[in-house]
Amino acid sequence: MHYFEYKKDELYCEDVPIREIVKKTKTPVYIYSYKTLERHFKVFDKAFEKIPHLICYSCKANSNIAIMSIFRNLGGGADIVSGGELYRALKANIPADRIVYSGVGKTEEELKTAIKANILMINIESEGELDALIQLSSRLKKEVRVSIRVNPQIDPKTHPYITTGLKKNKFGIIWDEALKLYRKMKNYKYIIPVGISSHIGSQILELSPFLEAVKSLKNMLYQLKTMGFEIKYLDIGGGLGITYKDEKAPHPEEYGDAIIKEIKDTGVTLILEPGRVIVGNSGILVTRVLYIKNVPGKTFVIVDGAMNDLIRPSLYGAYHEILPVTKHNTKKKRVDIVGPICESGDFFAKDRPFFEVERGEFIAVYGAGAYGFSMSSNYNSRPRAPEVLVKDDEFYVIRKRETKRDLIKGESIPDFLRL
Ligand code: LLP
Repeated sequence: MHYFEYKKDELYCEDVPIREIVKKTKTPVYIYSYKTLERHFKVFDKAFEKIPHLICYSCKANSNIAIMSIFRNLGGGADIVSGGELYRALKANIPADRIVYSGVGKTEEELKTAIKANILMINIESEGELDALIQLSSRLKKEVRVSIRVNPQIDPKTHPYITTGLKKNKFGIIWDEALKLYRKMKNYKYIIPVGISSHIGSQILELSPFLEAVKSLKNMLYQLKTMGFEIKYLDIGGGLGITYKDEKAPHPEEYGDAIIKEIKDTGVTLILEPGRVIVGNSGILVTRVLYIKNVPGKTFVIVDGAMNDLIRPSLYGAYHEILPVTKHNTKKKRVDIVGPICESGDFFAKDRPFFEVERGEFIAVYGAGAYGFSMSSNYNSRPRAPEVLVKDDEFYVIRKRETKRDLIKGESIPDFLRL
């Protein structure tokens, strides 16, 4: 469900024609719909209204501070994985007590900043990290609330690059080991164990892996309770999948009902870290057709957006729906839609029947709200695209297009190389 719709043959985001936006911003450009973002957050939140819960939006999916502010205003917090994301969360005025911090490789500097900011909880992913926290918290004489991210060893049946809860993955800690670490925490007065967390993967389209994970977390919770721990939070991560093409993703309500059934009697506050399900279908990437190139047996539609703007097709072979911004014919032709980058992997679609388009036309790549801009780069020295937020009949540039000057920001030529 989203608010990108054709009125007659023109694509609109809410009440603004896409054409009007690109006239101002040029292409490529990311465009997000406020109404869609708000609706997705509210639907997800409502699915858990029967139990105490906190939605810590996983800002790696889309970390623009305007987007993060939307969820802050709706009562949400943030799931962060770096000092940079903590900085963004605080800039978006997300209260520290709504921030949880995951990640296998938090540096001492990052941990220190998080302790000082007094965030809700740090999800520990190794004994080394616990040791670092023990040292830092006693040096700072400051309590730190922690959970252990356990690896429940569950196969979420998704793309191998985005599974995280398997034995072979680098994430989390297996239960026996986690128990040892919880016991160890008892010896350190500044370490306050308040939660258990897990995250098993992303773009998960079945409920069963989530339920399996929640069941094992519940067992762990009871074990910890009998050992005298006061565990207040169960953080089940993110991962709920969305429809990019024709996948049948569970509705958040179904997901909520199934999880509530499992944990309603535990008395804990549930923490959720959704990313994609909130922002994925709330954004499009609009790009312009530069050239149509025919080679024997193949037609390339060459556009001005590229893998540096949206890497999901190149990296995961991900499918993104693509449609022309102005529909002017119904004839289709099998094409590859590719960018200008010097890599054969630079494509948005391969061998796909697509409306016949001409030079100068705009096309929209759907499902670009999650892991689109946030994974973009400057490869081939391409300035990053601007981001626009639409609300009703207004639009706001929430990030300007980078300039050429931005490309060399921080670079310098040592004296011995000067002319
Ligand atoms: N919590 C943790 C600890 C995570 O690692 C992630 C995602 C999430 C929450 C949010 O998961 P979501 O609800 O968005 O599925 N770049 C990939 C996705 C990588 C996901 C990494 N972790 C993609 O474009 O498909």
